Amino acid sequence: MNILLLGSGGREHALAWKMQQSHHCNNLFIAPGNPGTAACGTNINLNINDFENIKDFIIANDINLLVVGPEEPLVNGVYDFMQLHFGNKLIVVGPSANAAQLEGSKAFSKQFMQRHNIPTAAYAEFTIENFEEGKTYISNHSLPIVLKADGLAAGKGVIIAETHAEAKQVFEEMIVNKQFGNASSKVVIEQFLQGIEVSVFVLTNGKDYKVIGHAKDYKRIGVGDTGLNTGGMGCVTPVPFMNDAFMQQVEQTVIQPTINGLSKENLIYNGFVFFGLMNCDGTPYVIEYNCRMGDPETEVVMPRLETDLVSLFAAMDNGTLADTNIQYNDGFFATIMAVSGGYPGDYEKNKIINGLTELPKNNATILFHAGTKQMDENVVTNGGRVLTVTSSANTITEAATKSKETLSKISFDGMYFRNDIGFEFE
Ligand code: AMP
Ligand code: GLY
Repeated sequence: MNILLLGSGGREHALAWKMQQSHHCNNLFIAPGNPGTAACGTNINLNINDFENIKDFIIANDINLLVVGPEEPLVNGVYDFMQLHFGNKLIVVGPSANAAQLEGSKAFSKQFMQRHNIPTAAYAEFTIENFEEGKTYISNHSLPIVLKADGLAAGKGVIIAETHAEAKQVFEEMIVNKQFGNASSKVVIEQFLQGIEVSVFVLTNGKDYKVIGHAKDYKRIGVGDTGLNTGGMGCVTPVPFMNDAFMQQVEQTVIQPTINGLSKENLIYNGFVFFGLMNCDGTPYVIEYNCRMGDPETEVVMPRLETDLVSLFAAMDNGTLADTNIQYNDGFFATIMAVSGGYPGDYEKNKIINGLTELPKNNATILFHAGTKQMDENVVTNGGRVLTVTSSANTITEAATKSKETLSKISFDGMYFRNDIGFEFE
């Protein structure tokens, strides 16, 4: 197959790394990609939201499989656009725009969960129309209070308020002052769930599904889960509490009702579902759906997955997913993200990254590029999250130690990483 992958982060490097190992992979193109993906295939300078140009590229290069990394093109309807032009001549990994609302609209996803009795936090939704009612709702709400901008807000649209006054201020910022533009013209207010977060990843065609992995993400910038939220500072898999009994509950109460719900509502879905869960004393609740893989979750899920990913996409397309066998590596995996100084606030770019050429080339430690770019003979920083190192070992702690050892050989001005990824599993 000839494959085009959209995106340019660590997630896309991990997907490209995995797909190029498949004997079904003929030519692999990544748009726009990064210096890491350039080693797995050919980077192409295409805008991921320019569907016309992507279509032309697909025709000119005889692409059979389009894999969409990030959510934005999906919410913007890349699936529907390509379906219209290519029908079943092109396999698109990603849901239709309607189904992508599971990520694109918090209110849509909450309503979907209610319709299908999927466990989630109690909530209400508000706009400028019922703004005053919303303030009363906040006054009567237990603390802390979770406020979510309805639409996509680049991962910044969720605020956990510790006081009623703070919650009302955030509420007003979002609805009246349009803090996130249109994305916050509607706000979901929900109950705070106490527990441990874990993400489960599923590949589905909207009827059948396979779990392809899970991971625990470390979202805060600071050691000991302190400080500001980030896109993710590291991940581990497998997670010790994800035993058969808990996974069975997740499948029965969350995954199966979700897939059945998609089917009942004729929501066309060919692709990954990211279930963001909270384990509340052994009971799983859905915090969010994403219509794509996670980043940096993909950077541990793909190295652990032994099954051929391109074959899984083909099985998703031809309805044989339920018959496929998912195999995992026996080891534990940890990935640790190196970020630019100042991230998740302001940071500088174009810092030369040293030490990349001296790294060992083996599958027990893999470097995935995220925000990097090639500048003359150097690779330089080009984003907040710069690169991530995934290692495997017999324990989470050993895997994290290996990643830290590799990161200690890499340097760039302002480089920072959390040295406690996987700390609770020591
Ligand atoms: P989301 O964008 O929905 O993933 O939310 C971002 C983060 O906010 C999540 O990963 C959780 O850490 C936290 N969060 C969201 N909703 C809740 C909730 N109802 N209770 C507790 N934490 C939450
Ligand atoms: N790491 C969280 C996400 O990809 O949404």
